[in-house]
Amino acid sequence: MGGGRRWPGRAIEPTSTDEIGRVVNRGLRARALSVLAANDRVTYTVPSGLLYPFQWNWDSCFVALALQTVGSPSEGEDRAWRELETLTRHQWTDGMIPHIVFHTDHDGYFPGPSFWGTECSSPAGTPTSGITQPPVLGLVLEQLWSRSSQDDSARLRCRALVEAVNRWHRWFGLARDPQATGLVSILHPWEAGRDNSVDFDRALASVPITDLPAYERRDTTVVAEAERPTDDDYDRYIALVVLFRGLGWDAAALHDASPFRVVDPGFNAILLASDRALARLGPAVGHPEIGDEAARRAAIGLDALSELWSPDRGQFVCRDRRSNLLVDNASIGGLLPVLVLDRDDVRLHHLCTQIEEWLQLAPFGVASQHPADAGFDPQRYWRGPTWLITNHLLAMGLRRTGRDDLADRIAGSSRSLLERSGFAEYYDPLTGAGLGGSTFSWTAAMAIELSMPHPSPLGEVDRLGDREPPRL
Ligand code: GLC
Repeated sequence: MGGGRRWPGRAIEPTSTDEIGRVVNRGLRARALSVLAANDRVTYTVPSGLLYPFQWNWDSCFVALALQTVGSPSEGEDRAWRELETLTRHQWTDGMIPHIVFHTDHDGYFPGPSFWGTECSSPAGTPTSGITQPPVLGLVLEQLWSRSSQDDSARLRCRALVEAVNRWHRWFGLARDPQATGLVSILHPWEAGRDNSVDFDRALASVPITDLPAYERRDTTVVAEAERPTDDDYDRYIALVVLFRGLGWDAAALHDASPFRVVDPGFNAILLASDRALARLGPAVGHPEIGDEAARRAAIGLDALSELWSPDRGQFVCRDRRSNLLVDNASIGGLLPVLVLDRDDVRLHHLCTQIEEWLQLAPFGVASQHPADAGFDPQRYWRGPTWLITNHLLAMGLRRTGRDDLADRIAGSSRSLLERSGFAEYYDPLTGAGLGGSTFSWTAAMAIELSMPHPSPLGEVDRLGDREPPRL
């Protein structure tokens, strides 16, 4: 399903100043393009044809970065904006951008469109899930804009997307931070994008699973059970969907009614980084007031993030919003605040030390769980394996603070995983073996991103100072 586009696209030549560690060979880029071509559905991209046959929120955002480099510059730009326009077209009237858009009928995934029962809330025509995902959209928009033509058409398209992102971020404040603490809760582990992380074990265990309807998992027919969440986890995921469905997906009711309410430092750091991106991007696309609003939100959130710092762990950790207790676990979510800390913040140095230690223990990293921890499982989904999108976010954060050395190490690890094991969904951080689904879109997108001469335009922007808008 190449959608009649020209594949593979234009070559991106590495510049002479590029470090070798950031360069992906041409063969790899060509293979990455063919993975994206196979998963292309013209107006959106599926994460993987077999395992995830619909549009996923943060997958599409990462994929848009790669799509921008495919075909002629105008073709690439058009396709990248379109990927995101398709996603935001399904934004709910309350502002939420859902985690899955079910564009077609397909019985290869459970829970599918009919199970969610979101007809009352999702925009007419296309069913969606009723929960959201990590808000990387703002961050990605800034990257796309800084590499775009920045002509009138690009400005208009980017401007509409900025408006959608701002509505989404406002929704987070209202629906997920009703006490105005500055930090938002996730109400389902799927919202974190790190479904079965050890971070969520205790909170998930409090989700009742009596009276569950009979259902059949589809994921374990495609991927080995040892690499996926357990049946018990799955029961609780489904129980939450059933509960929310019973509340008519009313965002005002969900937060306090949910037995699962977790403040995830990774999720919040992504939201803050996206708000900072909006703060720079707003004025550049004719929305200075959105820029100001986003800058205010980011300042409050950054302050509040300190509540999640664990001096014992030397990193950030989750907080269970029901018990108000910190969750004593070291996962990659607690390292993602490298996206927002200032370079002279001592906590940044602790996070860098953690990343170095994790890479020592699990060289094909960065693992999703501390490799020396009892809960570390190198093959099971988000309980140990390495994911290239989290590597990308870490490297991006490190570059903006001048830690290119560590960012290069992470990029080198991503590159060797790609070369060794192809475009797997995730990888064993001890052996480098590919795990989960194969021919995965966001992994292919990250391969292409690694081949870009400047992997992080955000880094350059930030180095000019936080208030500086991107190139006009
Ligand atoms: C899994 C991942 C999630 C991702 C989705 C589609 O659910 O945990 O982060 O968005 O698959 O790839």
